[in-house]
Amino acid sequence: MKAFVVDKYNKKGILRLAEMPEPKLQDSDVLIEIHAAAVNLLDSKVKTGEFRLLLPYSRPFILGHDVAGTVVRVGPKVRKFKPGDDVYSRPRDGRIGAFAEFIAIDEADVALKPKNLSMEEAASIPLVGLTAWQALFERANLRKGQKVFIQAGSGGVGTFAIQLAKHLGASVATTASAASAELVKGLGADVVVDYRKDDFEKILSGYDVVLNSQDAKTLEKSLDVLKPGGKLVSISGPPDPDFAREKGLNVVLRIVLRLLSRAIRSKARRRGVSFSFLFMWAQGDQLSKITSLIESGAIRPVIDRVFPFEATNEALAYVETGRAKGKVVIKVR
Ligand SMILES: NC(=O)c1ccc[n+]([C@@H]2O[C@H](COP(=O)([O-])OP(=O)(O)OC[C@H]3O[C@@H](n4cnc5c(N)ncnc54)[C@H](OP(=O)(O)O)[C@@H]3O)[C@@H](O)[C@H]2O)c1
Repeated sequence: MKAFVVDKYNKKGILRLAEMPEPKLQDSDVLIEIHAAAVNLLDSKVKTGEFRLLLPYSRPFILGHDVAGTVVRVGPKVRKFKPGDDVYSRPRDGRIGAFAEFIAIDEADVALKPKNLSMEEAASIPLVGLTAWQALFERANLRKGQKVFIQAGSGGVGTFAIQLAKHLGASVATTASAASAELVKGLGADVVVDYRKDDFEKILSGYDVVLNSQDAKTLEKSLDVLKPGGKLVSISGPPDPDFAREKGLNVVLRIVLRLLSRAIRSKARRRGVSFSFLFMWAQGDQLSKITSLIESGAIRPVIDRVFPFEATNEALAYVETGRAKGKVVIKVR
C-alpha cells in the first residue's frame, strides 16, 4: 500500500511517499480502508523528533493521527465492528499511521462515523474532539452556568471546544484575530478578544476554567483570568508530574518534567487555582459519545482545506503556518 513515512527526524523533514506492507491485524484490531485523514500539529512534532523521548517510533514509520474509513477485515476478538462499517478514530500512540491506504487499529480506539458527516468531515474530528472532551468535560468538569476561556477559538481544538462548552451550558470567551471573529461567534463564542489588538488578561476575569493552547507567556497570563478555585488546563505544556506518572516515564524524565512545570505550578498554588497538563489519549467510547453529539446537531466540523493524498506534505506545511481556520484534511480515496 502507499503511505507517507518518516525516514529520519529533522526540522524540515519531508515525508517520503513509500510502498509499505499492508498492516498486520492483531486479535482485537479492525483493518480500515482509509478514505480520509486529518493533519495535526502533533504530526509535525513527531516528524521533527521533538516528541521522540515521549513517543519513540522506530523508523521508517507511517505518520498520521486521525482517520476515517471503512472496516474491511476484523480480528477474531473484535466484537463491536464488522466489515462494511464506516468508522473514525484517533489510533493510540505507538500505533499511528493515518497517512496511508490502510491502517489496523485496536477496536477500543474506534467509533462508528457520524452518519451526517462525509469521510473528510469525520476525519477532522477525533484528535481535537477527544482533546476538548477530555480537557473540558473530564478534567475541568465544566458545568452549566460556568465561564470558560478557550484560547485560539479558530484553530482545530478551539472550533470544537467552543461548541462543546456551549453544549455543556457554559459561557465562552475566546481569542481570535479579527478575520476569524465571525467564525467563532457563529460557533457560539459569547466574548471574542482580538489577540492582535487587546490583552485578554485585562478584559476577562472571574473565569472557572481556562483551556490554554499557546506559549508560556500566555499560560502565565491565563492565571489572571481565573477566579479562586478555578482550573487552568494546558494542552501546550509544560508537562507536569501527574502526566509523567500516568505515562510511566523513567525517573530522569520525571525529574525533568517536575522542573519544567515547577514555576507555573507554584504560581497557580499561590493564587488558589489548579494547573494541569493534558495529553489527550485514544478512546473509542468517548468518540462514540462525540458521534452522538454530532448526529444531534450540537457540534459540526469546521474544515479549512482538503488536500489530495499526493499533497500530504503540502497539507502538513499548511498546518505548520499556524493560520488554519478549523481543520486540514487529506482525501485518501
Ligand atoms: N496536549 C494535547 O493533547 C493536544 C491536543 C491537540 C492540540 N494540542 C496543541 O494545542 C495547540 C493548538 O492546536 P490546534 O490543532 O488547535 O492548532 P491550529 O489549528 O493549528 O491553530 C491555528 C489557529 O490558531 C490561531 N492562533 C494562532 N496564534 C494565536 C494566538 N496567539 N492567540 C489566539 N489564536 C491564535 C490562528 O488564528 P489566526 O490565523 O486568526 O491568528 C489559527 O486559526 C498546538 O500547540 C497543539 O500541538 C495539544
